[in-house]
Amino acid sequence: MTLFEAACNVRENAYAPYSGFKVGAALRAASGHVYTGCNVENVAYPEGTCAEAGAIAAMVAAGEREITELVVVADSPTPVPPCGGCRQKIAEFAGPEVQVTMMALDGATQVLRVADLLPGAFGPGHMDSR
Ligand code: THU
Repeated sequence: MTLFEAACNVRENAYAPYSGFKVGAALRAASGHVYTGCNVENVAYPEGTCAEAGAIAAMVAAGEREITELVVVADSPTPVPPCGGCRQKIAEFAGPEVQVTMMALDGATQVLRVADLLPGAFGPGHMDSR
């Protein structure tokens, strides 16, 4: 199964009664294992979580720490980009060269490196003078 197929499958389980916008994410970790996540909304809107956050949580819960590839998909007119917060979450576990593939359900695709998704990312080095 491709990461696109895995993301489409998990997207079906998204809980998005408030936005009506279902998102699926699938990532491959260093072991080769695929982890998936979907958005999970809440009536207290800010408590909702994104698909990417779910996939990352599943990876970390399984004992892995390194993303080698990530795909996000939604029924969007153009390939769906990760939100700002998710860009930072992805950058925590993916090197600058890792490819993030943004897709629409019809297959429209845009690929960006993590370094291009979040230029000037805040990183551990910024806390070096503590
Ligand atoms: N959403 C994601 O899950 N991932 C993205 O990359 C973009 C936005 C979700 C959050 C919310 O449940 C819904 O899409 C509308 O913003």
